Amino acid sequence: MSPIGPSSREQRTVDVIDHASAESLRAIGVPAQARPLEEVVDQMLEEIYPWRARMDHPRFLAFIPGPSSPLSALGDYLTAVHNVHAGSWLQSSGASVIEAALIQWLAAQVGLPPSAGGLFVSGGSMANLTALAMARDFKLEPAQRLQGVAYVSEQTHSSVAKGLKILGLLPHQIRRMPTDAAFRIMTALAAAVEQDISDGLRPFAVVASAGTTNTGSIDPLRRIRALCDAHDMWMHVDGAYGASAALSPSHRGLLDGIGEADSLSWDAHKWLFQTYGCGMVFVRQRKHLSQVFHTRPEYLLDAHADTDADQINFWDLGVELTRPARAMKLWLTLQVLGSDAMGEAIAHGCRLATWAQDELEKDPRWDIVSPAQLGIVTFRMTDAAMSPEALDALNSEISSRVLQEGFATVLTTRLRNRTVLRICAIHPDATESDMRKTIRMLTSYADAVLASGVHISKSFS
Ligand SMILES: Cc1ncc(COP(=O)(O)O)c(C=O)c1O
Repeated sequence: MSPIGPSSREQRTVDVIDHASAESLRAIGVPAQARPLEEVVDQMLEEIYPWRARMDHPRFLAFIPGPSSPLSALGDYLTAVHNVHAGSWLQSSGASVIEAALIQWLAAQVGLPPSAGGLFVSGGSMANLTALAMARDFKLEPAQRLQGVAYVSEQTHSSVAKGLKILGLLPHQIRRMPTDAAFRIMTALAAAVEQDISDGLRPFAVVASAGTTNTGSIDPLRRIRALCDAHDMWMHVDGAYGASAALSPSHRGLLDGIGEADSLSWDAHKWLFQTYGCGMVFVRQRKHLSQVFHTRPEYLLDAHADTDADQINFWDLGVELTRPARAMKLWLTLQVLGSDAMGEAIAHGCRLATWAQDELEKDPRWDIVSPAQLGIVTFRMTDAAMSPEALDALNSEISSRVLQEGFATVLTTRLRNRTVLRICAIHPDATESDMRKTIRMLTSYADAVLASGVHISKSFS
């Protein structure tokens, strides 16, 4: 077992589909009288928490897995025990120094300049929202808000459009651009921006992805920077998933241009092996954060009385006032492991998807829809005699069977309007044999479904 991976390899992974009985859990209710602690803890451990997807299992290969390190859980525990209020210098100068230093170190890893800053937030959605508030305030005059246009791609994570909506943009102010064969934005982006300008609108932000959720694709970051410079637009990079590749010397080159962003989202609870509720948002000019988010209510003035420029009040840099010291668990993990081991664990994730692809390529019926990149590969079983709809059903059925069997968790997604199987493999304890065996099982399920003709011929032929 690696120091990052906590899981038992024997665990089934499929409790995703064996749901808890909601009724029996609701029946527990809130008692008027005290119950013994031991009994309540046992109930948590035996009746509630078992009902969850084992997203930290080495063969949980769906969504973005959550292979959290026990070191992160220890950091969580110590942080909770001390219950640090990490909003102000007065309340948490120790943890604030650590958070600021870790932000500077991480910013340097992605090539952001020394002027950069940021803070820890609950995750990628909050990071995107925080960054886009800066884009709106720095690039749009108040009177221009109804003319503002932001550009995302059809592969951009849904939290970006959600964030833009929360910030007041109407649906017609968000352009969802098509992507090229490699699922990257750009083909029509420049023309769309020019068209909007000539229509009297104000293009103000482009959201690039560094590791899309579906395929791990990385948008052409330097070209987007040039376009943003040409039209005075904010460049936000959603690296919630993929920015972690910057810690692997052999993979950071894939993120070329990420340090040119005006702002960046990066989740630690994805590929930095942290427990949930741990992401970061970075901004090229750290003063931008306080210009957008600081407030000075009378009941907090005492907390500001003695602070100087080096004494950060994190409540002035983001949405939250009261906030936990989220940086501490990542700090603890990095201190104990060292950044080299973290980088190697990330490189291992990239290799896992490559092994899966190599195994897929042994059977020409597997169509590789997007090749292994940043730990993600998507693929589809094909059969020249079957319609696209029948193939959709076949691939869904393959996923259902692997869930029933429980060896691995492989789910589907939709790409180019078709159902495909998707593997996202980032667990440090997953092995080459895990990947090859999973693919061989998927192939055998495909053979079994095709031999039985279930679903496919009935529904779609
Ligand atoms: C690329 C990307 N951005 C943003 C998010 C949202 O992050 P969170 O779930 O931490 O809010 C995700 C989540 O999977 C993601 O993959």
